[in-house]
Amino acid sequence: MKLIKDIHSLSQIVSSKKHEHINIGFVPTMGALHEGHISLIKQSLLENDFTIASIFVNPLQFNNPDDLKKYPRALDSDMQMLESAGCNALFAPETSEVYSGDEQPLQFDLGNLANIMEGKFRPGHFAGVITIVHKLFSWVKPDVAYFGEKDFQQLAVIRKMAKALHPNIIVTGCPTLREPNGLAMSSRNVRLNKTVRHNASIIYKAMQHARQLKNVLPVYEVCSKVRSMIEEVAPFKVEYIEIADAVNLQPLQQWSDTQSARIFVAVFANDVRLIDNAAL
Ligand code: PAJ
Repeated sequence: MKLIKDIHSLSQIVSSKKHEHINIGFVPTMGALHEGHISLIKQSLLENDFTIASIFVNPLQFNNPDDLKKYPRALDSDMQMLESAGCNALFAPETSEVYSGDEQPLQFDLGNLANIMEGKFRPGHFAGVITIVHKLFSWVKPDVAYFGEKDFQQLAVIRKMAKALHPNIIVTGCPTLREPNGLAMSSRNVRLNKTVRHNASIIYKAMQHARQLKNVLPVYEVCSKVRSMIEEVAPFKVEYIEIADAVNLQPLQQWSDTQSARIFVAVFANDVRLIDNAAL
């Protein structure tokens, strides 16, 4: 696997692949890779001739400085995982390569997506995400880019940005990979101690319970049942629970508002923030 640190070398590789009519698949990440990330790489390898991953812990998308400081970093083992998956190239730039000192977030109207769920509770987060993804798309020029449904709202935000600014790039969503107890794989899971990581299965169980209660109880009652199920287990504290339309992500008042309902949760395990979602 080729390790690329600077934009100039990346552009040279991309140009030569384009020249040879080689399809490029792209998987952007922030590293501390797990099987969820690797599943995106594998999907890209299946569908493209050349797969580029990126690892960049993007300061612009962290609204909480402590979260940025504590974000796990593991470049050596990440490279081994990518190598054994068969990834062709890794772009892993320094912050100074990506941003000028006084970089401002990309001005792009995300509409209501910016004001609900992650947009509401992490102000500026999605502006930071689309700033980096827009830059990466401009440099990597992929034919197809892969994102996880684990971050379902992020996927919607990126689809919206790409439709306007990179209409030739296909954005593909991939299913969430889970640990055996149902906890969605996440780089932040390494910050949970063994007991908390084990007990975090309650998040998945509560979402499954919501599926059983669909059309049985009103939407708001299902949300409050899910909340109390999760909060009965220490140390979990729910930040939000929302049942929303899977297409436009607008919160539902009643089940008949949509054909495809999805539940979204954000939960604190002490200072570690976990998000998850599932189709109902
Ligand atoms: P990161 O959290 O590293 O995730 C990189 C990609 O892996 C995202 O598309 C995410 O949805 C996907 N992913 C994470 N956990 C997954 C799981 N359990 N199953 C399947 N896919 C999973 O998301 C980001 O980085 C950043 O915001 C980024 C898009 C790279 C921009 O900085």
